[in-house]
Amino acid sequence: MEIKNLTKIFKVVGKDDIIALDNVNATFDKGKMYAIIGESGAGKTTLINILGLLDDYSDGEYIIDNKPINKLTEDEKADMRMKKFGFVFQSYYLNPKLKAYENVMIPMFINKDIKKSERKDKAISLLKQFGLNDRITHYPNQLSGGEQQRVAIARALANDPEVLIADEPTGNLDKENEKLAFDYLKKICKEGKCVIVVSHNMIVKSYADKIYYIDKGKLYEK
Ligand SMILES: Nc1ncnc2c1ncn2[C@@H]1O[C@H](COP(=O)(O)OP(=O)(O)OP(=O)(O)O)[C@@H](O)[C@H]1O
Ligand SMILES: [Mg+2]
Repeated sequence: MEIKNLTKIFKVVGKDDIIALDNVNATFDKGKMYAIIGESGAGKTTLINILGLLDDYSDGEYIIDNKPINKLTEDEKADMRMKKFGFVFQSYYLNPKLKAYENVMIPMFINKDIKKSERKDKAISLLKQFGLNDRITHYPNQLSGGEQQRVAIARALANDPEVLIADEPTGNLDKENEKLAFDYLKKICKEGKCVIVVSHNMIVKSYADKIYYIDKGKLYEK
């Protein structure tokens, strides 16, 4: 994925425009882990929402697999959003009424490529990959924060995305679970996926192949 001179302006009626992203350039390749670091309000969530096709940009270019995304139809974009990207949100958003494996199955329901009969086994095998062998039928309120977060990572991988995007995935975790989470993200990355992690946590620096710093909508590389 490549973004060129990407700008995002939020217009709020009666207020000054907010330039959330200001002429941003970046590339993201498979098999690499990227960290996006910046203060609150710097534009991190705005950037990853655009990368994951959850939001539009105002100006510039976004190219995925050599295709400019403004050339895609809404249907093609929706398909790409579902199959290419997996999201881990800061607060996990697990459904409290569903068991761990049922939460992991949610993204599969809209994916015709995964047979109904295979969904449950796939969800269970994903949970096992994250060391949750004996937590498969637990409800979220029966899981620790670290375990809930691993369920959220498993769910993000349900449709076998090429890109995993995580927004502050370790925000609510203690040191030990934080390290475990980054170890798992690194493992996913070594399996060939592109992993993009937004974090305030400086530990991410020791895991990332490339670090992007963002400040007031401007992106810097290190
Ligand atoms: N829907 C929106 N409408 C108007 N302004 C918005 C909207 N979403 C974000 N913004 C503004 O854009 C800027 C960037 O917001 P963003 O959510 O990307 O920050 P962030 O880096 O993710 O911060 P945090 O670390 O607190 O999550 C902020 O000034 C924010 O107030
Ligand atoms: Mg944010």
